[in-house]
Amino acid sequence: LRLILLGFGVVGQSFVKLLLSHSTDLYNDYGIKPKVVACADHKGIVSCNPGLDLDRLLNVKKKKRSVIQYGSNTDTSGIFDVIENTDAEVVIELTPTNITNGEPGKTHIIAAMKSGKNVITVNKGPLALEFPSLMELAEYNRIAFKFSGTVGGGTPILEFAKRCLRGDRIISFEGILNGTTNYILSKMYEGLNFTQALRDASEKGYAEKDSTLDIDGYDAVAKLVIASNLVMNMKSTMSDVVRTGIRDVQPTRVMNERKKGNAIKLIASCDGKNLVVKPKPVSIKDPICVDGILNAVTFTCQHSGQQTIIGKGAGGMETASSILRDLIDIRNMIRS
Ligand SMILES: NC(=O)c1ccc[n+]([C@@H]2O[C@H](COP(=O)([O-])OP(=O)(O)OC[C@H]3O[C@@H](n4cnc5c(N)ncnc54)[C@H](OP(=O)(O)O)[C@@H]3O)[C@@H](O)[C@H]2O)c1
Repeated sequence: LRLILLGFGVVGQSFVKLLLSHSTDLYNDYGIKPKVVACADHKGIVSCNPGLDLDRLLNVKKKKRSVIQYGSNTDTSGIFDVIENTDAEVVIELTPTNITNGEPGKTHIIAAMKSGKNVITVNKGPLALEFPSLMELAEYNRIAFKFSGTVGGGTPILEFAKRCLRGDRIISFEGILNGTTNYILSKMYEGLNFTQALRDASEKGYAEKDSTLDIDGYDAVAKLVIASNLVMNMKSTMSDVVRTGIRDVQPTRVMNERKKGNAIKLIASCDGKNLVVKPKPVSIKDPICVDGILNAVTFTCQHSGQQTIIGKGAGGMETASSILRDLIDIRNMIRS
């Protein structure tokens, strides 16, 4: 399998480390011998037809800050030229999530699909904004489009719904889709106010400098849109979600609910018609009432009742494992 990596930050580098450490298992268990034939960061792209030396690629990125310093046997032509003209089966899109216009990920994904390459992404922006048209384009070009890490990071929330619950009818689902806000609300449950809890989350590296995406609920909205499209066949986009973030959650409300046996959680919910993200009380006995950076989603099914999946919603290695999962699926599809 020949791969093109677009984006070589936390997730991209973790994925390459995973390829290096799992190469024997991947070959023995799945018959996969992936080669990274091109890799881009925001400064440019390097490509090498026989495959890049992955240890060297990681070293160059660490020491020289950009993959374009990789060496003399590389081609630093434009990213779209490489997407279109490089012999590869899979483009893996790992640039930053942009929920305003989906770029640069959206254009990368479209270019890859149009050139007949399978696509894996963990970038939420393009899907949250244009899910139906991207699925249509993938189908039109007869390529596989996989994005299991966009919701839940390494925790296979989408796969759980689509594969494990197939045959049943999912009536609704709700849960915690953002680990940063869950960490903050967990700290508020322990007695911190919002500002203290946000500072603690930043110090631990769970909150970005600009934490608006998490705090105001946009990240959860993007994931809810992706899940509702895939799991409930809705044709929704970001503007269809009624959104309230956690900025105005008061310590008194958290403590009053705590006395009643509840915790305030940022809950994303979908009943097939309505999409809502808002902080609300959840019984501490409810399986979705998880602490810290965990994510948890309960699917309510017509026959099998309620099923809950819990796990870490982010992290470089965790998310990289979702890419490997998608890659194995693509390999199986190519084979069959
Ligand atoms: N980190 C997680 O736990 C996690 C979990 C789930 C999903 N995700 C999603 O995964 C994606 C990657 O996350 P990350 O944490 O790896 O982000 P990151 O560390 O910021 O890495 C982003 C990478 O994209 C590169 N890039 C930016 N603009 C580019 C452009 N125009 N062309 C080519 N490359 C470009 C950056 O280049 P430079 O290195 O030169 O800056 C960097 O290598 C995001 O969409 C994120 O939402 C992340």
